[in-house]
Amino acid sequence: MVTNLQDDQDAQDGQDAQDSQDTPAPQHAPDAPDAPPPGCPAHAARLYGPDFRRRPDETYQRIRRDGGQVAPVLLEGDIDAWFVLGYRETRQVLSDTETFGRDPRRWNGWDSVPPDWPLMPWVAYSPMMPFTEGEEHRRRATAVSEALATVDPFVLRGHCERFADQLIDKFAPRGRADLVYDYIYSVPTLATAELFGLPQDEAGLETLAAGLTVSFLSDEEAIAGQQRVAGYVAELVRAKREDPGPDLTSRFILNTPDLTEEQHTADVMVLMAAALPLTSYWIGNTLRLMLTDERLAMTLSGNRRSIGEAMNEVLWADSPLQNLIGRYATRDTDLGGRRIHAGDLVVLGLAAANADPLLWPDTPVGHAGNHSHVAFSSGDYGCPAGGPETARIIAETAIEVLLDRVPDLTLAVAPDELKWVDSFWYRCLDSLPVTFSPTPVTAG
Ligand code: HEM
Repeated sequence: MVTNLQDDQDAQDGQDAQDSQDTPAPQHAPDAPDAPPPGCPAHAARLYGPDFRRRPDETYQRIRRDGGQVAPVLLEGDIDAWFVLGYRETRQVLSDTETFGRDPRRWNGWDSVPPDWPLMPWVAYSPMMPFTEGEEHRRRATAVSEALATVDPFVLRGHCERFADQLIDKFAPRGRADLVYDYIYSVPTLATAELFGLPQDEAGLETLAAGLTVSFLSDEEAIAGQQRVAGYVAELVRAKREDPGPDLTSRFILNTPDLTEEQHTADVMVLMAAALPLTSYWIGNTLRLMLTDERLAMTLSGNRRSIGEAMNEVLWADSPLQNLIGRYATRDTDLGGRRIHAGDLVVLGLAAANADPLLWPDTPVGHAGNHSHVAFSSGDYGCPAGGPETARIIAETAIEVLLDRVPDLTLAVAPDELKWVDSFWYRCLDSLPVTFSPTPVTAG
């Protein structure tokens, strides 16, 4: 099923903002303006717990059926929020930066949040770019994009090919591997080290990758994980402020001479937090799709063109960042037939929006050639220019080299035995066991 959405996103954003003024409440929405407030126990669905963990897609369907395109939900710890599931409503929030701000100090719900809240690391205010707005944000996002623009795609690709070959050499003779542990995280971790000027020291990189992963999990380790990463990145930033090199960390620092060391550390950590796990999950979810979906299985026998199709399909169907916190209403407003009050937290359900049945009335499969998903968010505050392209080069190279070297990859368990990680934010596999014909290591 192909949608009739325009591919020109700017035109779409503007149109959506305009349309939403006169849009009637979505088909399933309750009779709107006087709908129950966030947190009404009779109406709010839980975006956590065993049901959500087992089948988040079913949870989204249920919330949409019962609550409409914008619904009250409870986050971990029964914290109130609005959950935006509609594609059109998501676009509206992303494009209307005047009404939907990002500084978490605007939130009217802080009183109910315990200090050990697992979502705290990436929601509590700190001096990082995703919490800035307006001109301050523009300045820092531009500095990021200018730094990313200096990445030579051919050089990056060459590094990733080398990393991929080295990693495959370690498991190729065994004839079996768990791609999550043996490969999927490792290529982006090594690429991140190369890009950001980190020493290629295994223990340090392990601290970084593990700390970032844990900081987004739904458990009590999240805060400690982020603190470990912050310490590691602070050392890097200190070194690069004194002695810059030809790497992204130094370029970002040189592009923003007036930021403090604390702000540089926070922003470099955000860059890595965006680059490393999300690119890893893009690789993992694409490999899973190719190993389980007959339409894309031809990729495994060498059709490179369909790797791009599978990667795009994943951005629609299994986008690495499922849910985004978020936005905070700057004033009372209406959204999807709901009355949102100033200070309310608005969680963007990127995965739910991509699967919106108003876009895909039949079944949400087959998105070939359609890049209008919201996996990278969009608008002024979306993933900055250069981010998606850098991630694509790393992910595509990792997948291509793997399929070139190990063309007969087969899933070692039934598809429904694959387990997903328990995370509010992410869509990522716990493991991806495969078997294949043992192959020799490369000469290099
Ligand atoms: C090398 C790879 C990447 C880099 C350097 C990067 C960089 C960034 C940065 C710096 C931000 C914060 C933007 C801001 O605060 O304005 C961001 C946000 C974001 N990124 Fe990326 N990113 C990368 C890969 C990805 C991937 C693979 C995905 C998902 C498929 C992704 C999805 C997002 C989303 C959804 C946001 C949130 C934007 C919002 O708040 O609306 N990014 N990224």
